[in-house]
Amino acid sequence: MHIPTILVVDDEQLIRWSLATRLTDAGYRVLEAETGREALERHREGVDLVLLDYRLPDADGLSILKQIKEVDPDTLVILLTAFSSVETAVEAMKAGAYHYANKPFNVDEIALLVEKALETTRLRREVRALRATQAQPYGIGRIVGQSPAMVAVRALIQKIAASPASTVLLTGESGTGKDLAAKVIHYASDRAARPFMNITCSALPDALLESELFGHERGAFTGADRQKRGLLETADGGTVFLDEIGEMVPVLQAKLLRFLEEKSFKRVGGTTDLKMDVRVVAATNRNLEEEVRQGRFREDLYYRLNVLPVALAPLRQRPEDIPALINHYVDIFHTEFRKRIRGVAPQAMQCLQHYGWPGNVRELRNAVERAMLLTEGAELTLDDFPLGGGPRGRLGDKVELPAGGIDLDELERSLVMQALERSGWNQTKAAALLGLNRDQIRYRIDKFKLERV
Ligand SMILES: Nc1ncnc2c1ncn2[C@@H]1O[C@H](COP(=O)(O)OP(=O)(O)O)[C@@H](O)[C@H]1O
Ligand SMILES: [Mg+2]
Repeated sequence: MHIPTILVVDDEQLIRWSLATRLTDAGYRVLEAETGREALERHREGVDLVLLDYRLPDADGLSILKQIKEVDPDTLVILLTAFSSVETAVEAMKAGAYHYANKPFNVDEIALLVEKALETTRLRREVRALRATQAQPYGIGRIVGQSPAMVAVRALIQKIAASPASTVLLTGESGTGKDLAAKVIHYASDRAARPFMNITCSALPDALLESELFGHERGAFTGADRQKRGLLETADGGTVFLDEIGEMVPVLQAKLLRFLEEKSFKRVGGTTDLKMDVRVVAATNRNLEEEVRQGRFREDLYYRLNVLPVALAPLRQRPEDIPALINHYVDIFHTEFRKRIRGVAPQAMQCLQHYGWPGNVRELRNAVERAMLLTEGAELTLDDFPLGGGPRGRLGDKVELPAGGIDLDELERSLVMQALERSGWNQTKAAALLGLNRDQIRYRIDKFKLERV
């Protein structure tokens, strides 16, 4: 449980003492400060509420109040004034004070005021968190990013959600948001009140996957001592998300195809056809077309799934989304960890934008979470982001040599060209993206006779 911390700011020792004693007795953690400067320093330790004297030796309470609110708008401030004037009170409230109290005051009254203030913010925070998670757990707004690619994806997803047409194929590298997209499709559709079931095809042995998906009759196989409903049955009226569909074995592919075409199936060991209304959202990080060519994936199923393809681009192809995503997660973890972090330093942001993010948004989210947990500063800097192998994508782990081989020269040419385009033909920046120096990139521009078009 979080013990609220209260900062008492007053230059009179007796006042500090009487408030501190009363509030400590009430179970709060109490910090004290004598001056405005000290108050701002201690506030950084993480304070929920400040009792702030209007008259301080080095500053007036109002300006300290404003500075506190600037650092953290969630901190509650109660201003203590020796002379009651309406103007002061009005100004204090305008500057964001929760309340003000006149001196001399009764400590019990102050304690009551503190309790009430903390209660309202706790409630306010809970309501805000609830709204974010419960009311719209997977609204379209959950998908962050203003790159043309993401704007198009959001538009497409909204259309898909609104249409009764069933099957969708999500493609994209790991961490690009396939799970998220599947949930948004479900919860934005009129199936939202029905179940969303999900299963990862690679996570189960084939036989088990079949009975999970289609269910089985009693006695269908050894160990099947009772009848079991499969996911397709449980999700009737809703959505089934089949992750890593590329890993499904051909026998099951055939059974799935039949379901997609006829909306019916039989339980394992069963003879009756069961009719279900389920939207199937499939996802894969494989190139299914290639899998078809290699004979590992049924062509007919591929075409059936690919009626509505949604391609989620890797982050390195939409670096303009990176700052928005980082800020999104800073906001999330700011609330979650109750940190006083304003954001990411501009230089750090620039480097993060040039990092390749081989793990895509998942890696980015984890990196921000870790940085927010460990940082001591008010702003995240590059030191808070120990990215794998420096600020650079580890392509080596990601690129798989296609079975038919590849033209290495052509690949190099293409990468150099992409770096130049991404940096607006700034050779220094392009070189940095590739881990080269200027001479090395110039050499390649000449070698490949690259030109700005
Ligand atoms: N465009 C996006 N906006 C906000 N969060 C995203 C976005 N794309 C992915 N995420 C988040 O990144 C993480 C990984 O995404 P996920 O959907 O699990 O990826 P995948 O299924 O493609 O591996 C999740 O926490 C997800 O919520
Ligand atoms: Mg996933």
